[in-house]
Formats: sequence, structure tokens, C-alpha cells
Amino acid sequence: MREIQALLGSRPRRRDLLIEFLHLIQDRYGCLSAAHLRALAEEMRLAQAEIYEVASFYDHFDIVKEGEAKPAPLTIRICDSISCMLAGAEKLLEEIAAAVDPKEVRVLRAPCMGRCATAPAARIGDREVDHADSSILVELARSGETGVAIPAYTGLDSYSAAGGYRLLRQVREGEKSIDDIIETMQDAGLRGLGGAGFPAGKKWSIVRSYPGPRLMSINGDEGEPGTFKDRTYLESDPHRTLEGALIAAHAVEAERIYFYMRDEYPAVLQILRTEIAALEQAGIIAPGFIELRRGAGAYICGEESAMLESIEGKRGLPRHRPPYIAEVGLFGRPTLNHNVETLWWIRDIVEKGAQWFAGQGRPGHPGIRSWSVSGRVREPGVKLAPAGITVRELIEDYCGGMAEGHEFKAYLPGGASGGILPASMGDIPLDFGGELAKQGAFVGSHAVVVFSQADNIKDVTVNLLKFFKHESCGQCTPCREGTEKMVTLLKKESRPDEAAIRDLELVMRDASICGLGQAAPNPVNHLLTHFRDDF
Ligand SMILES: Cc1cc2nc3c(=O)[nH]c(=O)nc-3n(C[C@H](O)[C@H](O)[C@H](O)COP(=O)(O)O)c2cc1C
Ligand code: SF4
Repeated sequence: MREIQALLGSRPRRRDLLIEFLHLIQDRYGCLSAAHLRALAEEMRLAQAEIYEVASFYDHFDIVKEGEAKPAPLTIRICDSISCMLAGAEKLLEEIAAAVDPKEVRVLRAPCMGRCATAPAARIGDREVDHADSSILVELARSGETGVAIPAYTGLDSYSAAGGYRLLRQVREGEKSIDDIIETMQDAGLRGLGGAGFPAGKKWSIVRSYPGPRLMSINGDEGEPGTFKDRTYLESDPHRTLEGALIAAHAVEAERIYFYMRDEYPAVLQILRTEIAALEQAGIIAPGFIELRRGAGAYICGEESAMLESIEGKRGLPRHRPPYIAEVGLFGRPTLNHNVETLWWIRDIVEKGAQWFAGQGRPGHPGIRSWSVSGRVREPGVKLAPAGITVRELIEDYCGGMAEGHEFKAYLPGGASGGILPASMGDIPLDFGGELAKQGAFVGSHAVVVFSQADNIKDVTVNLLKFFKHESCGQCTPCREGTEKMVTLLKKESRPDEAAIRDLELVMRDASICGLGQAAPNPVNHLLTHFRDDF
């Protein structure tokens, strides 16, 4: 109890801060012991069961029950999501497990770390590692260089010197009207880039139509395998997103902004802490106006209603809709929620004009998009390219072609959830809806993963379904049991039961509560439809 009281200090014992408090304990003691959880329950006047259900929901918390041993002092996480699997993550897992002393270092599998362009990715302590191999990891463990490494980025001074926060000032002083800005965004065709593609300007109008007080959230969960654009932007130019967020918050008269950032990005978390403090110091925001909240390793917390639950200090269980969060959101208030990249574009669109943005897209597909491209291409990375581009053009014109010795066989148009299409469908315009939707696929967060003749699409599908199985929040049966059962059915060595697979696919689509369970069968559908040989 004394240790918990010292750790929490004078912080208010608010329920919504529970996950932040669990982080404090985990960071300080390397785990959550039964004794500490008991003391925290007492201190926060919560039932122990409430603390336990939250702590045990999130992957990054290690609960140690009475009499159990603490985890090893150092943790290495190896990403085993799809792009890292292609780059040899399984071999790396074996090698590193054999090279370290398990009493000193524990090796864990981890879902996508958003470093797909430099796969295989790993994390040792708080140090994120690109192109990881076992010798690099062993050397880092030996030298103790396991702290967070901050990349060079544009801080507040340089951003302001280049005209940053001028637009915010104009908006706040009424030189630019909110109605004009909403109209510009609508003319530009800016759509939500977190995955759903809802028109951004329209969302502002809807949120404004509900009586205040209102709140705003920023979704920095970026968990969709293959997606790494938000990290790239926040690690290079974080104030562009922050200024966009402050303009949006002004537009809907939000009382406060909650920035939810995934725990897999320690460098981004540190950058945001520093830059939010700099904004407070410069008087651009009042202290506490932007509250940074740290996720704890749960993909489902990218689903917006689950994210709000998590910000409220609870398990990330998606809510039933309606009501939508625009009406009843965070703490029951009307809430405007946006993806990091959606906000990133606002300043450019208003300063350069709607036509500047819309005109960069292909006919019928307004706008420019940030494509996270990885897999078997020569030059993976975030590619700024038109909406409505095809994967073939992305590969040839933006990625320097296929990697040496690889022929284009298939691709994910939208991360793990968006389905798997064959190369013969490589000329479909990539955008929300349209031809992709007719094929049962979607562009989602614009994460394109490219496969070649070296890749078996059944193995790819099993990898994706294992991810969904691991990340299902468990709230509804079709998804919780369905993802598990689907992996079992797919892995069956002798003749897979196709009728059972199709039946399960239908049940999951029709009866799951949220997008995770509804989209999880997409790759399975395409495996059975387009990749019969591999199946
Ligand atoms: C399972 C699931 C995971 C999601 N993950 C993310 C995510 O990591 N980041 C994100 O911005 N949106 C994610 N979304 C979409 C959000 O629910 C929401 O549509 C988005 O944050 C809205 O912001 P936008 O309009 O700016 O795109 C996810 C949706 C689902 C169903
Ligand atoms: S579909 Fe899956 S992730 Fe979504 S609420 Fe149901 S169990 Fe949770």
C-alpha cells in the first residue's frame, strides 16, 4: 500500500486513470503483483475484480499471482504479423530464443509493430529495432542500450517558424470561419483515413449538431497489420496532426482532446509528451487541454468505441450502436474522433485549397493518400500516391518494382481485414467502395502487402486469422469462437471441411458485433475463391 501510494502521489484517484496507474506500476516493478493490485483496488475504492478484468485484458500488463515468479527483467518482442513473417520472423524467434538466458531475457511474439517496411521488426525494452537479427538483439541486450530512441523530427519552434499554428490563430480569432473550413474539407473530399472513410467535414457537422459539452479523441492505435503511416508522420512532423486536432476541436467546441497512442510506439509517446508540454508552455493550449493516453497492447482499441472505453479506464469492448459516438461518446458526451492522418491533412488542405488536394486523385477518386506498402517489393515504405491508383502502379511506379527474384502473385489491399486479391485483379482502382467492395475487399487504412510466388496464400491466411483470434475482445461468440475455430479448420492437414468454413464465415459476418469479427473471414473467402491450389 505504501508503494502504491508513493507511486500515485497526488494524482487524483479517478477511475478513467486506471490504465495509466497500471502502467506506472508495471514500469516501476516490471509486473503487476497480486499485492499491488490489491492495494490499488483499496486506494481507488474499486472492487479487485474490476482492476483484475482491466489488467488482464491488455497484453502489455504482466499479472503475477501469489507465489508466482516475476517475468525476466528484459523483454524482447518479435513481430510475427504478415510482413515480418515474410521477412523471416519465425527463424528470428527460434534464433533469439536459443541465444538468450531465459532468466535474464524473455522472448515474446507480438502483433504488428508498424515497422513493416523494415521487417523483421523487434523491440527490446523500449528500443524499437528495424531489420532485426539475433546478433543485433543480443548485442543490445548485452550493452544495456534498451531505452527509447527518438528520431529527428520537426519540433514546435521549427514548425512555427515555417508558418505552423498561423491557421489555428486565424480560426480562433474568427478570421477564418468554421463553416468555410468545413466546406473546404468537403470540396477536397477528405475522408477518414483510419479505415472507414467517413467524410471528415460531414462528421464535424454531425458532432456540432448535438448539444454540448463535447469532447474530441485522436485515434493513434494503428494496429492494422501492414499499416505504418501514422507512426511515420508522428515521428517526423507531429505538430501537423496536433494543429489539425486543435482546429477540429475548435470547430466542434470540444472541451478537451484525448490523444490515444498505442504502447507499441514508445518513441512517438515520448515525442507527444514533449511536444504537448511545449504547446502548454508556449500558451497555445491550456494545461491539460490535450490529454495523452497510453494504450496497453490491444488491436481492438483501434475500433473507436472500444478506444473510448479504454480511455475511460476499462476493457476495450466495442459498444453496440446506435447511439453513435458522435451523439453519446466519451463519458457519455458527443465526441469527435479522428485518425492521426486525417488530422494531418487539415492544415495543407485549408492553406493550399480544396482543389490542390482533390485534384491529385484519379478521376472519380479525389485526393491523395498515404499508402503503407510492404512485402515483396523492392522499395517498401509510405508512398504518397493518388486515391484510385492500382496496386500494379504502386509496385512499378512507387516501389521500384518487385523485389529481386519475386513475381507478383497476390496482395492485401487493406491490411489483414481487407481481403487477399490475386495479381489478375491488380488493375482495380484502390479506394473506398467501388470495384474493391464488389470483390468483397476494402482499402481500409491503405496498408498494401504484396506477395509473390514464394508465398503460400493459405499460410498467409492462417497468419491473418491467428492475429484476429489473438485480438478478438471475446465479447461476442461468433468472433471469439469463430476466429479460433477458423484457424483450426484451416490448419487441418487432411482435406479441410469447406462447407464448415463457409458456414462459419457467414455466421461471423452476420452476427459479430464489430468490424473485427465481421471482416476476419475476408481473407478466408478469398483463399477459397481465388487461390484453390494453395487451399
Ligand atoms: C477492428 C477495428 C480496428 C480499428 N483500428 C483503427 C486504428 O488503429 N486507427 C484508426 O484510426 N482507426 C481504426 N479503426 C476505425 C475507427 O473505428 C474509426 O472509424 C476511425 O478512428 C475514425 O477516424 P477517421 O474518420 O479520421 O478515420 C478501426 C476499426 C475497427 C472496426
Ligand atoms: S466482433 Fe470480436 S472484437 Fe468485435 S465485439 Fe465481437 S468479440 Fe469483440
